[in-house]
Amino acid sequence: MPQLSVIVPTFNEIGNVVELRDRVAKALDGIDWEMIYVDDNSPDGTAQAVRDMAQQDRRVRCIQRIGRRGLSTACIEGMLASSAPVVAVIDADLQHDERLLPKMLELIQGGELDVVVGSRYVESGGIGTWDESRAAFSRWATRLSRVVLKADLQDPMSGFFMIRRDAAVDCIKAGVSGVGFKILLDLFATSPTPLRYRELPYEFRNRVAGESKLDTNVAWEYFIMLLDKFMGGVVPIRFIAFSLVGGFGLIVHLIVLWAMFKGAGTTFLWAQTGATMVAMTSNYVMNNVLTYRDMRLHGWSFVRGWFSFVLACSVGALANVGIADYLFHKEGSFWVSSAIAGVLVGAVWNYAVTAVYTWKKPKAG
Ligand code: GDD
Ligand code: MN
Repeated sequence: MPQLSVIVPTFNEIGNVVELRDRVAKALDGIDWEMIYVDDNSPDGTAQAVRDMAQQDRRVRCIQRIGRRGLSTACIEGMLASSAPVVAVIDADLQHDERLLPKMLELIQGGELDVVVGSRYVESGGIGTWDESRAAFSRWATRLSRVVLKADLQDPMSGFFMIRRDAAVDCIKAGVSGVGFKILLDLFATSPTPLRYRELPYEFRNRVAGESKLDTNVAWEYFIMLLDKFMGGVVPIRFIAFSLVGGFGLIVHLIVLWAMFKGAGTTFLWAQTGATMVAMTSNYVMNNVLTYRDMRLHGWSFVRGWFSFVLACSVGALANVGIADYLFHKEGSFWVSSAIAGVLVGAVWNYAVTAVYTWKKPKAG
């Protein structure tokens, strides 16, 4: 019976999966372990490579997810698929030091700890040869995380850790957000009871095969996750993102309106119409990239999505104006609260309708 499940999220890691298994096997010599690769249907065929390996090695399995993307949710699914009392999460790209695994396991099996984190920041750990801007961003994001974190972790952003399976499942039940890259931070911020943890230093290695999936979106997703934790998880996370995009759209609207009306000297009606179309389109594109990153529309679906988005938002605008006007004409009402109520109704409408009609859950296959 495996004592330890090693969860490996993968996206386009075909050149690394076998080497990682070999290294993990070497490090965990004498320990009963299994590896669960969670692959999001990588175009390079990573899932098939893992299955080929699993045909030779019973300790290896593959969960292939179709129509979904996300490092955190992949880790969560891997943890839930494990039967071992302890689970570890490690990147496929060999950047994390698998030689830490036996020590981590020993510490957890000691019974005093829930989590052991591979940390780049504690003494004698290091971030390898990151360039200064990435290093600075990482430090800054770490500082920001303390706002929502219930623990004084040195490296809450680490993607390399081991946790008692029960503790992880408790966090998952309590509602981890699953957004973005920062699964460890998510677990710590969500845990119903404070997690007992320890950090072990290691040196972050350079990637040899494949490339990093960390892009600018990751910063946005990170910010959204912190906001979600900060607000106690009461408002749906996509609605927060949707509203932030909407707020930005208002700025776009005003700029276009000003440029057309004051700059180009068109009539106000034309300027307002143009501004509305540009703002709707920019909101659509931004929601497609940011809010619905994991089900992004491309090609013809993108065009169809634009139509449904504009249609939904037009109705939303009518509802907004109608409600605000109705409230405004009720006795003793105040114009600001009427307007805010209108905007809120419109926003909720737009969000709800586009969630169902524009960004439909993809069919499997
Ligand atoms: N299933 C799945 N789905 N796996 C993914 C996805 C996804 O959408 N995106 C990335 N991965 C996998 C990669 O294949 C890799 O095994 C691992 O997640 C990390 O992705 P990288 O793109 O290599 O991230 P990084 O090296 O820039 O950042 C890593 O290290 C940081 C420092 O420890 C991540 O682990 C970060 O979370 C971590 O903060
Ligand atoms: Mn990496």
